[in-house]
Amino acid sequence: MTRPFLIDTDTASDDAVALIMALRAPDVEVKAITIVSGNVTVEQGTRNALVTLELCGAGHIPVYAGADRPLLREPERAEWFHGADGMGNQYYPEPQGKVAPGHAVDALIETIKANPGITLVTLGPLTNIGLAVARAPEIVPLVSRCVVMGGTAWAVGNVTPAAEFNIWQDPEAARMAFRSGLPIEMVGWELCRFDAGLTLAEMDHVRSLNTRPAHFTLDCNRSALEAVFVQSGALSLELPDPVAMATAIDPSICARKSRHAVDIETQSELTRGMTVIDQLDNAGDERNRPHWRPVLERANVTVCWEIDVLRWKQMLYEALAVD
Ligand code: RIB
Ligand code: CA
Repeated sequence: MTRPFLIDTDTASDDAVALIMALRAPDVEVKAITIVSGNVTVEQGTRNALVTLELCGAGHIPVYAGADRPLLREPERAEWFHGADGMGNQYYPEPQGKVAPGHAVDALIETIKANPGITLVTLGPLTNIGLAVARAPEIVPLVSRCVVMGGTAWAVGNVTPAAEFNIWQDPEAARMAFRSGLPIEMVGWELCRFDAGLTLAEMDHVRSLNTRPAHFTLDCNRSALEAVFVQSGALSLELPDPVAMATAIDPSICARKSRHAVDIETQSELTRGMTVIDQLDNAGDERNRPHWRPVLERANVTVCWEIDVLRWKQMLYEALAVD
């Protein structure tokens, strides 16, 4: 029995590895891939997804282009991090595959309606998702899991001290998604760092697999490896989207989780895009009423606090070991 997946992505180099993991997962059937503006333009993200599908012999999976900018904010690209093409400046040849006709938001709605119980995995800004739940709120109960690579759980952000890129890029859309009732499982950026990043020896192990996906993973993430060193001084390949995909494929890889009210900061510039977690359930405490009127009075998000690093990496190696 296969599990239907729907993946929304701003396809840069780590997204591409997450796509490979989903395509290689034995009991996962990727029904569609929808592209959102983020790391790179929606055109470039679409091309990168088609290149990745071609690498995996999965050209039959439809790829739909979606929002080409955030709902309100000016788009900010991450080309300094992922390279001008989003793929480590590898400039892969033009893919054979073509983008599917129709807008990604319509495709999200139709694919969810056609596959009740589907798992939705988001790897980029939540613009398409915010638009989809606004257009068709009836899809919310049809989604069994919505695994979001986004935010940080009381940890430093990568684009500002308070915020992670996917949420920061389109905080209004993120707030729409987080307040929509979707069964969100939040996998924050902090979970791909430190011991979850690939060491030089582990990168050598990936290279030794000597498959096209293994070489592709290291080659297209070369800019990301350099950027992590510039950003934090760590010599470590941090792969946030693949970590989120690992928890989507095997929920038990999230070793510690709990449910909380989580809302998104949209008013402040200092904390724009912060994922504010009501970890102590202040919202539920009458004594807090006088000074805090929370919008969310109930838990809406399952926050992942810790992953099983060994099993995350083992799943990655298994996915890359197949040509
Ligand atoms: O902050 C990390 C996220 O932003 C990842 O999804 C990465 O691909 C970028 O989109
Ligand atoms: Ca991404």
